[in-house]
Amino acid sequence: MKPLSAIAIAIAFVTSSVYGAPTEAITTTHITSAKVACALFHFTYPNHTFYPNSSAYIYETQTQYWSVTDYAGPQCVFVPQNAQQVAFAVSSMVLSQTQFAVRGGGHMPIPGYNNIDSSGVLLSTTNLSSLALSTDKSVLSIGPGNKWVTVYNFLQPYGLCAIGGRVGGVGVPGYLLGGGISFYSNQYGFASDNVVKYECVLASGLIVEATATNTYSDLFWALKGGGNSFCIVTRFDVKTVASPEVWVGLAQYDSSQKTKYLDAVYNFGKYGSLDSKAAIIPTIVSFPSLNTSVYTAAKFYDSLVNNAAPFENFTTPQLFPTVDTYALQPLSGYITLIDSLQPDGPRQQFTVMSSIVDRNALEIVHDTFLLEVFTQLSSISGLQTSLTFQPITKEFIQQGISKGGNPQGVDISKAPYFWMVENWSWSNSADDATIYAFSKSVTDNINAQLKAKGLQGTYLYMNDAGAGQQIFQNYPTANLARLKSIRAKYDPLQIYTKLMPGGWKVLNA
Ligand SMILES: Cc1cc2nc3c(=O)[nH]c(=O)nc-3n(C[C@H](O)[C@H](O)[C@H](O)COP(=O)(O)OP(=O)(O)OC[C@H]3O[C@@H](n4cnc5c(N)ncnc54)[C@H](O)[C@@H]3O)c2cc1C
Ligand SMILES: *[C@@H]1O[C@H](CO)[C@@H](O)[C@H](O)[C@H]1NC(C)=O
Ligand SMILES: *[C@@H]1O[C@H](CO)[C@@H](O)[C@H](O)[C@H]1NC(C)=O
Ligand SMILES: *[C@@H]1O[C@H](CO)[C@@H](O)[C@H](O)[C@H]1NC(C)=O
Ligand SMILES: *[C@@H]1O[C@H](CO)[C@@H](O)[C@H](O)[C@H]1NC(C)=O
Ligand SMILES: *[C@@H]1O[C@H](CO)[C@@H](O)[C@H](O)[C@H]1NC(C)=O
Ligand SMILES: *[C@@H]1O[C@H](CO)[C@@H](O)[C@H](O)[C@H]1NC(C)=O
Repeated sequence: MKPLSAIAIAIAFVTSSVYGAPTEAITTTHITSAKVACALFHFTYPNHTFYPNSSAYIYETQTQYWSVTDYAGPQCVFVPQNAQQVAFAVSSMVLSQTQFAVRGGGHMPIPGYNNIDSSGVLLSTTNLSSLALSTDKSVLSIGPGNKWVTVYNFLQPYGLCAIGGRVGGVGVPGYLLGGGISFYSNQYGFASDNVVKYECVLASGLIVEATATNTYSDLFWALKGGGNSFCIVTRFDVKTVASPEVWVGLAQYDSSQKTKYLDAVYNFGKYGSLDSKAAIIPTIVSFPSLNTSVYTAAKFYDSLVNNAAPFENFTTPQLFPTVDTYALQPLSGYITLIDSLQPDGPRQQFTVMSSIVDRNALEIVHDTFLLEVFTQLSSISGLQTSLTFQPITKEFIQQGISKGGNPQGVDISKAPYFWMVENWSWSNSADDATIYAFSKSVTDNINAQLKAKGLQGTYLYMNDAGAGQQIFQNYPTANLARLKSIRAKYDPLQIYTKLMPGGWKVLNA
């Protein structure tokens, strides 16, 4: 039996069995499409369809999300076990015209981008959790239900690693569909530059494999940074890297060292990062109610043999760490430890900014952000903010170009850059509006200053962005046009744009 006719029969069956005989002329206009789709899923896959009365539903709609701002109450959750069931789900949503959302690791904190209310169905990739290494161990096939820590733990016994997240709970699919910044990016580019094949479900229900050279090479290119407008990815095949152990750890500094700390960040962005095995994540964590900040830097060096030179400005006598855990260890071990120190939630919001590597840019961003946070947000309950300066090198961007290019098309001529993230974490929904308004105003203020001095970068990284920021508008014009035409080719009915409304959509740019 062809899948689509099976679905049509099943819809008729469900409609008649649940709501009476067909002769009663009860049509879908009497009920919401979502209820029909849920009944169909429940009828076909009773063990993988969950209603609000089950603990699996709570797990899939709450526990699996990093930020409480993403919690929502879909009509039901369907948890496919393989790509064929994803195709069945997509075809069912299309035929019943049911809105839906898809969730991977649940780490994008923007409300509505990875979940949906009772007007729709949540498609959860939790159980698409396969991991398989190719015979020659050069390629790892990853199901989209995986988080990066699971990937690293799987590869560690082989002395291998993958280009992935710097926090273990981050999901593989959302991360790779936006690009992906890794500790290894200075050597290998965006994580997505190292994907060799995608398996995905088109809006038609067709399951296809896209590579750089096959019939779907246009789709392959689009998926390296085009987000979720094209298909639902059911497998990522990524290159592995030999990296049994690395030098990695977290250093902390007190706020009296601010000037030298910003000097060190600037110098690393300019000079230290010329050694492509080296990476840092400088983050300033602030507690506005306590009028306190802690300056931190994760340091990473991909070798069994340490090279302290790239980090010389982060250590004595330039800076005096209060703590420094930098040591030789498997990346999986470090990630597991760091994850245990960073509990999920409660409510989270990101905003992304970009500058060229310039000492004055760092001063503007740092001073404006901290001053405004401390003067305007000190009364917000449970508030913790952070400001991260991610150094992005010429080599990072060159890797993407050499590996066939990507939609992001970051301008290499102005590199290196700092891609920056402002980050808020707070307790009460009553403060949401204050945080959202503040994040927009402080970011607008910083961007206006950077722009006036010619220090702003153009590209904004999707995965660190907040609601309302422009993302695809900052991709090169020709790339955005190409993304739009690839989208139209594979999804003419706009299923992944309108029926699946959550996420950054190329059509809306
Ligand atoms: C604590 C933390 C640390 C982070 N660290 C890093 C880092 O080191 N480097 C970095 O680059 N980013 C990092 N990020 C950002 C991260 O890349 C994004 O949050 C990313 O969206 C997470 O992927 P996910 O699968 O968890 O997302 P989800 O929230 O599950 O999904 C994100 C988007 O992708 C879509 N999507 C999910 N699965 C699929 C699929 N199979 N097919 C099609 N579309 C799909 C969803 O619909 C949604 O719109 C971090 C975020 C957090 C919260
Ligand atoms: C659902 O799970 C039950 C209990 O494990 C099992 O007996 C049953 O066969 C399953 N149903 C289907 C349709 O797979
Ligand atoms: C997911 O798979 C596990 C086994 O790996 C199984 O116990 C569980 O019931 C499945 N969950 C769903 C929601 O299908
Ligand atoms: C949960 O709700 C669904 C749909 O309303 C129903 O079919 C199912 O029997 C309920 N399960 C329990 C345990 O109440
Ligand atoms: C450290 O800072 C000095 C300037 O004080 C700079 O010349 C040097 O290149 C920096 N080293 C690194 C590795 O960033
Ligand atoms: C916050 O701390 C700074 C010094 O770090 C100090 O100048 C300022 O007065 C403090 N503000 C409040 C409200 O305590
Ligand atoms: C944002 O802040 C939260 C909570 O403070 C933290 O867990 C997370 O790692 C931060 N993310 C980034 C990108 O700094």
